[in-house]
Amino acid sequence: MPTYPPEPFRIKVTEPIRLISPDKREAALKEAGYNIFAVKAEDIFIDLLTDSGTGAMSHDQWAALMRGDESYAGARSYIRLKAAVEDIFGFKYFVPAHQGRAAENILSAVLVRPGQYIPSNMHFDTTDANIRARGGRPTNLVIDEAFDPANPHPFKGNMDIAKLKAFIEKIGAEKIPFGMMTITNNAGGGQPVSMENLKEVADTYHSYDIPFFIDAARYAENAYFIKLREKGYENKSTLEIARETFSLADGMCMSAKKDAIVNIGGLLCMNDETVFQNVKNELILREGFPTYGGLAGRDLDAMAVGLYEGLDEAYLAYRLNQTAYLAARINQAGIPTIQPAGGHAVYLDVLATLPHIPQGEFPGQALTVELYREGAIRGCEIGSVMFAHPDPETGRMIYPQLELLRLAIPRRTYTQSHLDYVAETLARIKERAAEIRGYKFTYAPELLRHFTARFEPL
Ligand code: F0G
Repeated sequence: MPTYPPEPFRIKVTEPIRLISPDKREAALKEAGYNIFAVKAEDIFIDLLTDSGTGAMSHDQWAALMRGDESYAGARSYIRLKAAVEDIFGFKYFVPAHQGRAAENILSAVLVRPGQYIPSNMHFDTTDANIRARGGRPTNLVIDEAFDPANPHPFKGNMDIAKLKAFIEKIGAEKIPFGMMTITNNAGGGQPVSMENLKEVADTYHSYDIPFFIDAARYAENAYFIKLREKGYENKSTLEIARETFSLADGMCMSAKKDAIVNIGGLLCMNDETVFQNVKNELILREGFPTYGGLAGRDLDAMAVGLYEGLDEAYLAYRLNQTAYLAARINQAGIPTIQPAGGHAVYLDVLATLPHIPQGEFPGQALTVELYREGAIRGCEIGSVMFAHPDPETGRMIYPQLELLRLAIPRRTYTQSHLDYVAETLARIKERAAEIRGYKFTYAPELLRHFTARFEPL
């Protein structure tokens, strides 16, 4: 079991949660069509659906809200956020946006043309969709180790440099308006990217004159993984590591709802002046004036404070250990998870846990339902409900390589005893795993079906 540094904060405000009875949970599941997205938040005891916008703000952030300047243009809040963004990320230009996908939308509108390709280690699904919405083709070139759940590679989010070079040679650099990297790699298990790999990626893109953008949603967790795992960085601060990371890139987009520990917000940064002019015009059309970008002044102030709190090393040590601790306890109960544990979430290997349920009967969904039934805990299926699709030519179903249940941990929100409760609930489920049955759709939309599908037990 990893050592567990106690929470580096104490609790000043509380929000009650309640555990409803097994009968009420059964009724809630039935009413929701066995889709956990449709269960009311008040009927959830521990909510691990996402770490996005669900963290607890600090007293400094709540105090910063009161300093919010709601002027339409050039607000003091914007000036304070600008100082923090320049200090940490070092890009020449930036705009706020209301969340990560808004920044991705603006970036794609300005730079992506139909038929162009955007390589990355792995795009998150909103980035993928925003590129596609502009006619572009997102391409994932992560190292092969990322697809082997048991492989303990320390930087499983790394780009496969040989694949990247071969891809650029094949497609032609003129068809690649920019290249990306997602840190940490959420779609691949919250896995970090090493500085060495980031340097190689930057060199490769730049040798072909391709601008390099980072999806920086979990940049602070990535920086701390580099400090822990990469030679030469053990004595550098996370702030220094973050500065070095972004000095390699030409821009970034970021959901501030993760490592900036705010409930809403995003950023889009760049060094190119023409891109900045076009971004501002697009932003004014869709989000708001460039000094607020769809947010209230107070949101900008909370973000300015949160950007530094997310980099605090006592907090990051606690944060990454919390995830590793939950993973180790779940493994102890006989349920394998993606190794090593990611930064923000634990990913359960469902095919190894419920081997008797074929992918066509949605084993990930079955485990998600069971977690709610047994303990009123909400996780997120990342498997066949989300990704299985018919082959356009043969019509045969293509199932994803991995069938996962993600337990994402909101920042500074749950204590060790909450995580113990989650692990104990899973241990009870594991004991009766052989009795668990699969599900079938009673309704499924064509796209993004996990959000609104309805199911029936088999
Ligand atoms: N990039 C990454 C790596 C993300 O994980 C997310 C969101 C986004 C971009 C989009 O940001 O939600 O602010 O628009 N991830 C959330 C999750 C939704 O649950 O993993 P957003």
